[in-house]
Amino acid sequence: VKKSDVVQVILGTQYLQAPKNITGSAFAPTNIALCKYWGKRDQELNLPVTPSLSISLGKKGANATITVSDATHDEIILNDQLVNTDVPFSKRLISFLNLFRLSGTLAFTICITSNIPIAAGLASSAAGFASIVKALNGLYGWQLDTSSLSILARLGSGSASRSLYQGFVEWHKGVRKDGMDSFSEAIREIWPEFCIGLLIVSDKEKGVSSREAMQRTVATSALYSAWPQKVTTDLADIKIAIAEKDFNLLGKTAESNALTMHATLLSAWPPVNYAISETIQAMQKIWQLRNNGLEIYFTQDAGPNLKLLFLQKDLATIQTHFPTAEILQPFA
Ligand code: DP6
Repeated sequence: VKKSDVVQVILGTQYLQAPKNITGSAFAPTNIALCKYWGKRDQELNLPVTPSLSISLGKKGANATITVSDATHDEIILNDQLVNTDVPFSKRLISFLNLFRLSGTLAFTICITSNIPIAAGLASSAAGFASIVKALNGLYGWQLDTSSLSILARLGSGSASRSLYQGFVEWHKGVRKDGMDSFSEAIREIWPEFCIGLLIVSDKEKGVSSREAMQRTVATSALYSAWPQKVTTDLADIKIAIAEKDFNLLGKTAESNALTMHATLLSAWPPVNYAISETIQAMQKIWQLRNNGLEIYFTQDAGPNLKLLFLQKDLATIQTHFPTAEILQPFA
Protein backbone atom coordinates (compact mmCIF):
# COMPACT_ATOMS: atom_id res chain seq x y z
CA VAL A 1 0.00 0.00 0.00
CA LYS A 2 1.35 3.43 -0.96
CA LYS A 3 0.88 6.71 0.91
CA SER A 4 -1.09 8.13 -2.02
CA ASP A 5 -3.55 5.18 -1.82
CA VAL A 6 -4.27 6.08 1.80
CA VAL A 7 -4.71 9.78 0.98
CA GLN A 8 -7.10 8.84 -1.83
CA VAL A 9 -9.26 6.70 0.49
CA ILE A 10 -9.38 9.39 3.18
CA LEU A 11 -10.18 12.27 0.82
CA GLY A 12 -12.61 10.36 -1.43
CA THR A 13 -14.13 12.68 -4.03
CA GLN A 14 -12.05 15.57 -2.62
CA TYR A 15 -8.80 13.86 -3.70
CA LEU A 16 -6.62 16.21 -5.81
CA GLN A 17 -9.34 18.87 -5.96
CA ALA A 18 -8.34 22.54 -5.90
CA PRO A 19 -8.13 24.29 -2.50
CA LYS A 20 -11.33 26.08 -1.44
CA ASN A 21 -9.30 28.79 0.30
CA ILE A 22 -6.12 30.79 -0.29
CA THR A 23 -4.57 29.96 3.05
CA GLY A 24 -4.82 27.56 5.96
CA SER A 25 -3.20 27.94 9.35
CA ALA A 26 -3.06 25.75 12.44
CA PHE A 27 -1.15 24.92 15.61
CA ALA A 28 -0.28 21.47 16.93
CA PRO A 29 1.50 20.63 20.19
CA THR A 30 4.54 18.43 20.39
CA ASN A 31 4.28 15.28 22.45
CA ILE A 32 6.48 13.14 24.65
CA ALA A 33 5.92 9.39 24.67
CA LEU A 34 5.58 7.77 28.09
CA CYS A 35 5.29 4.39 26.37
CA LYS A 36 7.39 4.63 23.22
CA TYR A 37 6.73 3.97 19.55
CA TRP A 38 9.83 2.02 18.55
CA GLY A 39 9.72 -0.13 15.42
CA LYS A 40 7.57 -0.20 12.30
CA ARG A 41 5.68 -3.01 10.68
CA ASP A 42 5.41 -0.88 7.51
CA GLN A 43 8.09 1.71 6.62
CA GLU A 44 6.08 3.41 3.89
CA LEU A 45 3.00 4.12 6.02
CA ASN A 46 4.77 4.46 9.40
CA LEU A 47 2.68 1.65 10.85
CA PRO A 48 3.98 0.71 14.31
CA VAL A 49 4.75 -2.72 15.73
CA THR A 50 3.10 -1.67 19.01
CA PRO A 51 0.68 0.93 20.36
CA SER A 52 2.15 3.90 22.24
CA LEU A 53 1.02 6.56 24.71
CA SER A 54 2.13 10.16 25.03
CA ILE A 55 1.47 13.47 26.68
CA SER A 56 1.10 16.60 24.57
CA LEU A 57 2.88 19.74 25.67
CA GLY A 58 0.14 22.37 25.60
CA LYS A 59 1.42 25.55 23.96
CA LYS A 60 4.80 24.02 23.04
CA GLY A 61 4.60 23.05 19.41
CA ALA A 62 4.46 24.30 15.86
CA ASN A 63 2.25 26.62 13.89
CA ALA A 64 1.94 26.03 10.15
CA THR A 65 0.54 28.48 7.62
CA ILE A 66 0.18 27.24 4.06
CA THR A 67 -0.67 29.69 1.31
CA VAL A 68 -1.27 29.10 -2.40
CA SER A 69 1.39 31.05 -4.26
CA ASP A 70 1.91 32.01 -7.89
CA ALA A 71 5.60 31.14 -7.71
CA THR A 72 6.90 28.21 -9.77
CA HIS A 73 8.03 26.20 -6.76
CA ASP A 74 7.41 25.86 -3.04
CA GLU A 75 8.90 28.23 -0.53
CA ILE A 76 9.60 27.04 2.98
CA ILE A 77 10.08 29.49 5.83
CA LEU A 78 11.12 28.05 9.16
CA ASN A 79 11.10 30.44 12.12
CA ASP A 80 11.22 33.46 9.76
CA GLN A 81 14.17 32.07 7.76
CA LEU A 82 13.91 30.96 4.17
CA VAL A 83 15.05 27.31 3.97
CA ASN A 84 16.87 25.89 0.94
CA THR A 85 14.58 23.40 -0.82
CA ASP A 86 17.49 20.96 -1.34
CA VAL A 87 18.06 20.14 2.33
CA PRO A 88 16.59 16.85 3.68
CA PHE A 89 14.07 18.71 5.87
CA SER A 90 12.59 20.51 2.83
CA LYS A 91 12.64 17.43 0.61
CA ARG A 92 10.70 15.46 3.19
CA LEU A 93 8.17 18.26 3.56
CA ILE A 94 7.73 18.80 -0.18
CA SER A 95 7.27 15.10 -0.90
CA PHE A 96 4.60 15.07 1.82
CA LEU A 97 2.82 18.07 0.27
CA ASN A 98 3.00 16.37 -3.14
CA LEU A 99 0.55 13.77 -1.83
CA PHE A 100 -2.12 16.45 -1.77
CA ARG A 101 -1.77 18.24 -5.12
CA LEU A 102 -1.70 17.38 -8.78
CA SER A 103 2.04 17.42 -9.45
CA GLY A 104 3.31 20.69 -10.85
CA THR A 105 -0.06 22.41 -10.67
CA LEU A 106 0.23 24.28 -7.44
CA ALA A 107 2.98 25.92 -5.43
CA PHE A 108 2.76 26.70 -1.76
CA THR A 109 4.40 29.04 0.67
CA ILE A 110 4.79 27.13 3.91
CA CYS A 111 5.60 29.07 7.08
CA ILE A 112 6.39 27.01 10.13
CA THR A 113 7.11 28.60 13.46
CA SER A 114 8.13 26.39 16.32
CA ASN A 115 8.68 27.23 19.97
CA ILE A 116 10.38 23.90 20.69
CA PRO A 117 14.16 23.87 21.25
CA ILE A 118 15.12 22.59 17.78
CA ALA A 119 17.75 19.97 18.59
CA ALA A 120 16.23 19.00 21.89
CA GLY A 121 15.11 15.63 20.56
CA LEU A 122 11.59 16.76 21.27
CA ALA A 123 9.99 15.09 18.27
CA SER A 124 9.69 18.43 16.48
CA SER A 125 8.61 16.51 13.38
CA ALA A 126 5.52 15.43 15.34
CA ALA A 127 4.22 18.97 15.89
CA GLY A 128 5.37 19.96 12.40
CA PHE A 129 3.49 17.31 10.44
CA ALA A 130 0.41 17.51 12.65
CA SER A 131 0.19 21.32 12.20
CA ILE A 132 0.73 20.95 8.43
CA VAL A 133 -2.07 18.42 8.10
CA LYS A 134 -4.43 20.68 10.08
CA ALA A 135 -3.40 23.68 7.95
CA LEU A 136 -4.04 21.67 4.74
CA ASN A 137 -7.47 20.70 6.10
CA GLY A 138 -8.27 24.40 6.44
CA LEU A 139 -6.71 25.40 3.11
CA TYR A 140 -8.55 22.73 1.11
CA GLY A 141 -11.74 22.90 3.19
CA TRP A 142 -11.82 19.09 3.60
CA GLN A 143 -13.55 19.12 7.01
CA LEU A 144 -11.95 15.82 8.01
CA ASP A 145 -12.49 14.28 11.44
CA THR A 146 -9.56 14.10 13.85
CA SER A 147 -8.96 10.35 13.32
CA SER A 148 -8.48 10.98 9.60
CA LEU A 149 -6.13 13.89 10.32
CA SER A 150 -4.19 11.60 12.67
CA ILE A 151 -3.77 9.02 9.89
CA LEU A 152 -2.57 11.69 7.43
CA ALA A 153 -0.12 13.12 10.00
CA ARG A 154 1.25 9.59 10.59
CA LEU A 155 2.19 9.41 6.89
CA GLY A 156 4.58 12.31 7.59
CA SER A 157 5.99 11.00 10.88
CA GLY A 158 4.68 8.26 13.16
CA SER A 159 4.69 10.29 16.35
CA ALA A 160 2.81 13.12 14.55
CA SER A 161 -0.31 10.97 14.68
CA ARG A 162 -0.42 11.70 18.44
CA SER A 163 -0.02 15.48 18.10
CA LEU A 164 -3.64 16.01 17.01
CA TYR A 165 -4.74 16.07 20.65
CA GLN A 166 -3.77 17.68 23.93
CA GLY A 167 -3.37 15.74 27.18
CA PHE A 168 -2.71 12.02 27.29
CA VAL A 169 -2.99 10.34 23.90
CA GLU A 170 -2.97 6.71 22.83
CA TRP A 171 -1.95 5.68 19.31
CA HIS A 172 -3.69 2.42 18.39
CA LYS A 173 -1.36 0.21 16.43
CA GLY A 174 -4.11 -1.22 14.23
CA VAL A 175 -3.86 -4.48 12.30
CA ARG A 176 -4.89 -3.48 8.79
CA LYS A 177 -2.38 -3.40 5.96
CA ASP A 178 -3.63 0.01 4.83
CA GLY A 179 -3.39 1.38 8.39
CA MET A 180 -6.94 2.77 8.46
CA ASP A 181 -7.21 1.54 12.06
CA SER A 182 -3.83 2.99 13.13
CA PHE A 183 -4.64 6.44 14.53
CA SER A 184 -4.55 8.23 17.86
CA GLU A 185 -7.23 9.07 20.37
CA ALA A 186 -7.30 11.30 23.42
CA ILE A 187 -7.51 9.80 26.89
CA ARG A 188 -10.00 12.05 28.64
CA GLU A 189 -8.38 12.11 32.08
CA ILE A 190 -6.75 15.38 33.15
CA TRP A 191 -3.96 15.62 35.73
CA PRO A 192 -3.35 19.30 36.57
CA GLU A 193 -0.45 18.56 38.97
CA PHE A 194 1.53 16.72 36.28
CA CYS A 195 4.81 18.53 35.43
CA ILE A 196 7.53 17.96 32.88
CA GLY A 197 11.03 19.43 33.02
CA LEU A 198 13.05 19.68 29.82
CA LEU A 199 16.63 18.99 30.80
CA ILE A 200 18.77 20.03 27.85
CA VAL A 201 22.28 18.64 28.31
CA SER A 202 23.32 19.18 24.68
CA ASP A 203 21.86 21.07 21.75
CA LYS A 204 24.04 19.32 19.15
CA GLU A 205 22.26 17.59 16.27
CA LYS A 206 21.79 13.89 16.89
CA GLY A 207 24.03 11.64 14.83
CA VAL A 208 21.54 8.93 13.92
CA SER A 209 17.94 9.85 13.15
CA SER A 210 15.20 8.08 15.08
CA ARG A 211 13.92 6.72 11.78
CA GLU A 212 17.27 5.06 10.96
CA ALA A 213 17.88 3.91 14.55
CA MET A 214 14.44 2.34 14.79
CA GLN A 215 14.95 0.40 11.59
CA ARG A 216 18.41 -0.76 12.68
CA THR A 217 17.07 -1.93 16.03
CA VAL A 218 14.28 -3.99 14.52
CA ALA A 219 16.70 -5.51 12.00
CA THR A 220 19.63 -6.33 14.30
CA SER A 221 18.85 -6.20 18.04
CA ALA A 222 18.47 -9.58 19.74
CA LEU A 223 16.49 -7.78 22.46
CA TYR A 224 13.86 -6.40 20.11
CA SER A 225 11.72 -9.55 20.32
CA ALA A 226 11.05 -8.70 23.98
CA TRP A 227 9.86 -5.17 23.17
CA PRO A 228 6.21 -5.82 22.14
CA GLN A 229 5.50 -7.71 25.40
CA LYS A 230 7.16 -4.92 27.40
CA VAL A 231 4.88 -2.37 25.70
CA THR A 232 1.76 -4.43 26.41
CA THR A 233 2.53 -4.46 30.13
CA ASP A 234 3.70 -0.84 30.30
CA LEU A 235 0.74 0.52 28.35
CA ALA A 236 -1.71 -1.22 30.69
CA ASP A 237 0.15 0.07 33.76
CA ILE A 238 0.33 3.64 32.48
CA LYS A 239 -3.40 3.64 31.77
CA ILE A 240 -4.09 2.40 35.31
CA ALA A 241 -1.70 5.04 36.67
CA ILE A 242 -3.52 7.79 34.76
CA ALA A 243 -6.98 6.59 35.82
CA GLU A 244 -5.94 6.27 39.49
CA LYS A 245 -3.55 9.26 39.54
CA ASP A 246 -0.84 6.90 40.74
CA PHE A 247 2.22 9.00 39.96
CA ASN A 248 4.79 6.47 41.16
CA LEU A 249 3.36 3.80 38.89
CA LEU A 250 3.34 6.22 35.97
CA GLY A 251 6.88 7.46 36.55
CA LYS A 252 8.38 4.05 37.15
CA THR A 253 6.70 2.58 34.09
CA ALA A 254 7.64 5.46 31.78
CA GLU A 255 11.28 5.46 32.93
CA SER A 256 11.60 1.70 32.60
CA ASN A 257 9.98 1.83 29.15
CA ALA A 258 12.50 4.44 27.94
CA LEU A 259 15.48 2.54 29.38
CA THR A 260 14.29 -0.66 27.71
CA MET A 261 14.02 1.15 24.39
CA HIS A 262 17.61 2.39 24.81
CA ALA A 263 18.75 -1.13 25.74
CA THR A 264 17.46 -2.35 22.37
CA LEU A 265 19.43 0.49 20.75
CA LEU A 266 22.66 -0.44 22.54
CA SER A 267 22.23 -4.02 21.36
CA ALA A 268 21.65 -3.02 17.73
CA TRP A 269 24.50 -3.23 15.22
CA PRO A 270 26.12 -0.81 14.59
CA PRO A 271 25.14 0.17 18.15
CA VAL A 272 23.34 3.42 18.89
CA ASN A 273 23.97 5.24 22.16
CA TYR A 274 22.09 8.53 22.46
CA ALA A 275 23.43 9.19 25.97
CA ILE A 276 26.44 11.42 26.57
CA SER A 277 28.24 11.68 29.90
CA GLU A 278 25.96 14.53 31.03
CA THR A 279 22.94 12.28 30.34
CA ILE A 280 24.32 9.55 32.60
CA GLN A 281 25.24 12.07 35.30
CA ALA A 282 21.69 13.43 35.26
CA MET A 283 20.25 9.92 35.48
CA GLN A 284 22.43 9.16 38.50
CA LYS A 285 21.34 12.39 40.15
CA ILE A 286 17.68 11.50 39.55
CA TRP A 287 18.16 8.01 40.99
CA GLN A 288 19.90 9.43 44.04
CA LEU A 289 17.17 12.02 44.63
CA ARG A 290 14.61 9.24 44.33
CA ASN A 291 16.47 7.09 46.86
CA ASN A 292 16.16 10.07 49.18
CA GLY A 293 12.39 10.09 48.76
CA LEU A 294 11.79 12.62 45.95
CA GLU A 295 9.19 11.50 43.40
CA ILE A 296 11.15 12.26 40.23
CA TYR A 297 11.44 10.11 37.12
CA PHE A 298 12.69 10.67 33.58
CA THR A 299 12.13 9.63 30.02
CA GLN A 300 14.55 9.89 27.08
CA ASP A 301 13.97 9.88 23.33
CA ALA A 302 16.32 9.68 20.36
CA GLY A 303 18.80 12.19 21.79
CA PRO A 304 20.89 12.94 24.89
CA ASN A 305 18.36 15.15 26.69
CA LEU A 306 16.06 14.00 29.47
CA LYS A 307 12.49 14.90 30.26
CA LEU A 308 11.89 15.01 34.01
CA LEU A 309 8.53 13.78 35.29
CA PHE A 310 7.27 15.04 38.65
CA LEU A 311 4.29 16.56 40.44
CA GLN A 312 3.64 20.23 41.16
CA LYS A 313 4.15 19.74 44.92
CA ASP A 314 7.85 19.08 44.22
CA LEU A 315 8.35 21.92 41.74
CA ALA A 316 10.47 24.14 44.02
CA THR A 317 12.72 21.23 45.04
CA ILE A 318 13.20 20.11 41.44
CA GLN A 319 14.10 23.67 40.43
CA THR A 320 16.83 23.86 43.06
CA HIS A 321 18.34 20.58 41.84
CA PHE A 322 17.87 21.30 38.11
CA PRO A 323 17.94 25.11 37.79
CA THR A 324 18.33 25.00 33.99
CA ALA A 325 15.34 22.72 33.33
CA GLU A 326 12.45 24.34 31.47
CA ILE A 327 9.28 23.52 33.37
CA LEU A 328 6.05 22.71 31.52
CA GLN A 329 2.61 22.06 32.94
CA PRO A 330 0.73 20.29 30.14
CA PHE A 331 -2.70 20.69 31.79
CA ALA A 332 -2.29 24.32 32.94
C1 DP6 B 1 11.85 7.89 20.31
O1 DP6 B 1 7.93 9.56 14.91
O2 DP6 B 1 10.23 10.58 14.69
O3 DP6 B 1 10.41 9.75 19.88
O4 DP6 B 1 7.81 7.65 12.14
O5 DP6 B 1 10.18 7.54 11.37
O6 DP6 B 1 9.06 9.76 11.63
P1 DP6 B 1 9.16 8.33 12.11
O7 DP6 B 1 9.73 8.37 13.61
P2 DP6 B 1 9.40 9.36 14.80
O8 DP6 B 1 9.93 8.49 16.04
C2 DP6 B 1 9.71 8.87 17.35
C3 DP6 B 1 10.50 7.98 18.26
C4 DP6 B 1 10.51 8.36 19.71
C5 DP6 B 1 9.42 7.64 20.50
C6 DP6 B 1 8.02 8.20 20.39
O9 DP6 B 1 7.83 9.40 20.13
O10 DP6 B 1 7.08 7.42 20.62
